[in-house]
Amino acid sequence: MLETRELSRSFGKLAALSNVSFSVDKGEVFGIAGPNGAGKSTLFNVITGNYAPTSGKVFFCGNDITGKKPYQICQLGIGRTFQIPTTFHTLSVYDNIKVGSTFGGYKTRPPEEILEFLNISQLSALPARNLDLYSTKLTMLGAVLATNCQLLMLDEPMAGFSIVEINRFIEVLQRINKEWGVTIVIIEHLLDILIGLTERMLILSNGSLLYLGPSSEVTQDRKVVEVYIGAAHKEEFHAES
Ligand SMILES: Nc1ncnc2c1ncn2[C@@H]1O[C@H](COP(=O)(O)OP(=O)(O)OP(=O)(O)O)[C@@H](O)[C@H]1O
Ligand SMILES: [Mg+2]
Repeated sequence: MLETRELSRSFGKLAALSNVSFSVDKGEVFGIAGPNGAGKSTLFNVITGNYAPTSGKVFFCGNDITGKKPYQICQLGIGRTFQIPTTFHTLSVYDNIKVGSTFGGYKTRPPEEILEFLNISQLSALPARNLDLYSTKLTMLGAVLATNCQLLMLDEPMAGFSIVEINRFIEVLQRINKEWGVTIVIIEHLLDILIGLTERMLILSNGSLLYLGPSSEVTQDRKVVEVYIGAAHKEEFHAES
């Protein structure tokens, strides 16, 4: 469904993304991890047309979408959320989701269906600025789902959530995948969560591919342990001391 070939993006002298090639099958839940600044969000931005790649190509359902504009890519069926939660603050939850229904491609989903699916009908009339973090993120997700995307790309959607919220959100993602057949690509820092949620994952380090393979085998990979798991433990150690 999604394929990148030798995808690169530089900012001045900084190679934020270097020759990253991977593909995601229809129906998969696919994970992306890596340290801070590894290039995860840049990879999303290059796939969804927010940034042009310096070189390389992106294919969606076999079609070359490299260089297309974000709205064109959205209307072809790729939806995404941003790492920093973004809603239209002055609009109600209903109207935020309606933006997605209005803007998306062929055969979008009505806001009522999304509100019910996400179990947030009771928030419908609230202005988005009054929402807590969890409801803000569900609203942002609702707006994307309303476009009727076939591929959903989520940039650290669970950052800042409590354990209870993480578990609730994972259930929502599994329903989106199983009941609606939406393919999901998710960036998540916490490897344990990603291993439980995905079959395969990609790990980036300094803009390059460090690991691409089964999620169940990632903790046995020597390079991952050295570069990522080791680094994560060091961060924990510094945080504690
Ligand atoms: N618009 C930009 N202009 C200049 N440099 C950028 C830009 N966007 C990202 N970068 C740089 O590219 C590198 C990769 O950033 P990116 O945001 O993709 O990392 P990330 O893996 O998403 O990190 P995090 O886990 O902190 O979200 C970083 O060094 C970042 O400073
Ligand atoms: Mg990021």
